[in-house]
Amino acid sequence: MKYELTKDLETGNGLIDSEHRQLFQAVNTLMDACSVGKGRDKIKSTSQFLQDYVIKHFRDEEDLQKTHQYPGYISHRQFHGGYAQTLNKICWEIEKEGPTIPILSKLNQHIGVLVNHIRTEDKKLAEFLRNKK
Ligand SMILES: [Fe+2]
Repeated sequence: MKYELTKDLETGNGLIDSEHRQLFQAVNTLMDACSVGKGRDKIKSTSQFLQDYVIKHFRDEEDLQKTHQYPGYISHRQFHGGYAQTLNKICWEIEKEGPTIPILSKLNQHIGVLVNHIRTEDKKLAEFLRNKK
C-alpha cells in the first residue's frame, strides 16, 4: 500500500500540504527499499532521509505556530517530540535488524498515528493560520 495525501488529508495550507506529500513519499521510498531487498545501504539512506525530513517538517510547523502565536503550540510540539523519538527508534531497529514483518507493521502503525494527527491537529492549525490572515 502506498501512502498518499488524499483530499481528506489536505489542510489547505500550501507549505504544510506539500511537506506532508513529501513525507509520505519518503515513507513509500523506505517501504520500497525494504520490500524488494535493495540491500542495507538503500534501507539506511532512505530511513535516514525519512527521519531527517520528519524533523525538518515538524520544525517548520512549529515555526509557523510560534510566529502566529498558536494557542496549541505546547501540546502540538510535545506530540512532535514524542513522535519523532518513536520513529527514530523504529528506524534504528529496521537498520539494525533488517525489515522484519513485526517491525514493518510497527512502522505502518506509527505512520497511521501521523495520518490521524494530520487529520485532526494539523487541520486545526491550518484553519487557525487561515483565520489569522
Ligand atoms: Fe503537526
